Amino acid sequence: MTAKKERLEKVLSNLGYGARKDVGYWVRSGWLTIDGELAKSASQKVFPSQVMLEGKALDHPHGLTLIYHKALATVCSRKENGRLIYADFPERWLGRKPALSSVGRLDKDTSGLLILTDDGALNHQLTSPKHDISKTYAVTLAEPLKGDEVEKLASGTLMLDADDRPCKVAELEVTGESTANLVLHEGRYHQVRRMFAALGNHVVALERIQIGMLSLASLNLEIGGYRTFESDELLQMIVEKKA
Ligand code: URA
Repeated sequence: MTAKKERLEKVLSNLGYGARKDVGYWVRSGWLTIDGELAKSASQKVFPSQVMLEGKALDHPHGLTLIYHKALATVCSRKENGRLIYADFPERWLGRKPALSSVGRLDKDTSGLLILTDDGALNHQLTSPKHDISKTYAVTLAEPLKGDEVEKLASGTLMLDADDRPCKVAELEVTGESTANLVLHEGRYHQVRRMFAALGNHVVALERIQIGMLSLASLNLEIGGYRTFESDELLQMIVEKKA
């Protein structure tokens, strides 16, 4: 995100610190400094990195990107019922503009790795089919695997209920009688659950364990925990090196 000078009141309101009208009060109270000098007015133009509020630098002034370990029974959107994932982040982040949003979604009953960012270009890079960023899911099934799933999922012909084109080739690694890791190269609504339903089984537990090269195990994140990154740094950790 390229920094440009903006009015002090706009910088602070876009970073979720409060309404523009509050900023005038903070200036008059001497709580704001610009490069160490007391701010003169709420309308002076500043770079966000020059500003301190009560002696503290502003929170992620040039954009916010994080990796989050989503818990079961939490939801990614206000349209769904349940505890919102955003309750796990500082309240101020919810007031930011551009807004912090998840890169794709996980179902209420799915846990695991989720990326959130306010960087539209990064969001596009991570979701555009051109970049083919795989997602790996650990799946637990109600019934034992039959033996034909690896082939059927790799065929590129599996049709899902209500869809008009087959699923892309997906790789299944069987890890137990009724457990497996599934690597997808696309993201459709409830895709993993619907793929196994199409194979005559039922998903009873689902966790996203990897995005591209980045595994949940390597991050050591507690459930509901998150870590912030620069967009470039995150992309580097994820992007698969093509041979
Ligand atoms: N597939 C699903 O069925 N659910 C998810 O949350 C992600 C992929």
